[in-house]
Amino acid sequence: MTRLDRFLTVDDFMKVAERRVPRMFFQYADSGAYTEGTYRDNSADFGKIRLEQRVGRDIAGRSLTTTMLGRTVSMPLALAPTGAAGMQAADGEIKAARAAEKAGIIFTLSTVSICSIEDVAAATSVPFWFQFYVRKDRDFNERLIDRARAAKCGAIVVTLDCQLGGQRHKDVRNGLTVPLKMTPKFVAEMAMKPRWSLAMLRTRHRTFGNFAGHVPGATTVAALAEWMSQQDDLTLTWTDLLWIKKRFGGPLVVKGILHPDDAREAVAHGADAIIVSNHGGRQLDGAPSTIRVLPRIVDAVGGKCEIYLDSGVRSGHDMLKAVALGARAVFIGRPFLYGLGVAGEAGVDRVIDIIRAEADTTLGLMGETDVTTLGAHNIESNDLIAPHGH
Ligand code: GLV
Repeated sequence: MTRLDRFLTVDDFMKVAERRVPRMFFQYADSGAYTEGTYRDNSADFGKIRLEQRVGRDIAGRSLTTTMLGRTVSMPLALAPTGAAGMQAADGEIKAARAAEKAGIIFTLSTVSICSIEDVAAATSVPFWFQFYVRKDRDFNERLIDRARAAKCGAIVVTLDCQLGGQRHKDVRNGLTVPLKMTPKFVAEMAMKPRWSLAMLRTRHRTFGNFAGHVPGATTVAALAEWMSQQDDLTLTWTDLLWIKKRFGGPLVVKGILHPDDAREAVAHGADAIIVSNHGGRQLDGAPSTIRVLPRIVDAVGGKCEIYLDSGVRSGHDMLKAVALGARAVFIGRPFLYGLGVAGEAGVDRVIDIIRAEADTTLGLMGETDVTTLGAHNIESNDLIAPHGH
């Protein structure tokens, strides 16, 4: 039994990550906006869904394999774009992307990553997806899209729910700022996390890699931070998707959909896929959980694009519930960040393995053998969810 075999759930990783990662960064991941009500609902609502148990069937040859935008993946799971993953562990994005590659699933790099598009491309050999935050600076936007295209990213994921930031009280209380201030409290915290700190000292990836060196005139960290803080584009609308897709020249994924009418808009503006997401409960507090709205969105889209879901997925069971309710695949954010915080790439490997093993066993216990054939018949109707087609 290796050390990581003792970790049996995503929750086990969360508890140990809390001890290993400086509080400011652990809590940046483990937080939701305002009351954190939506953050809690995301997982809690998965817990309210019941899977139908069917028996007396041959379940010997089970398969979790499916496709996402034409690419074969070993299960309906992908790694979500998460800001500053390289602060959970040194070179975090590279480590997570490598783990995803080995597992045969898709990694998505955030615009606000620590390792840059080029860093991740150099360290991997299959295309990853790139999440794009539209900035005010049109020239910067175009160059960023061009960089994603040059790195052969498999899709561009445009996030629409983050033009303003829902306040996360923990970040304010922890003094999480860009640039980081080396307060005595933070320095003391680093001294208590020697493994994290030493690895961080050894890497050259310690700032926002997609921005540093790419903003003309911003030669200091402070100048870059000042520029970044003024770049939220509040005028972004559906029609912007058209030029983004054209410039990228590949598939467009629209992230942050929570309403059926917005799902229709996304399709009408060229989305090849949408991600049903409330940003992990980090933006609009009070928004419904994603699993709850999924069936309505599936109905609205009517098969016109692929539908993925994130926010609240913590297990293979959750993944199968979402697939049965009409998602083609799910994305995980915090679970892989906790894996990174505990053991870097090996931690992400183990988190992915746990979810895979849970899903494989659960699929069989449901009396099913092929994940692509799951549907409303696998879910017991209840008050929370009226599966589409019922
Ligand atoms: C950024 O996207 C965040 O959720 O912090």
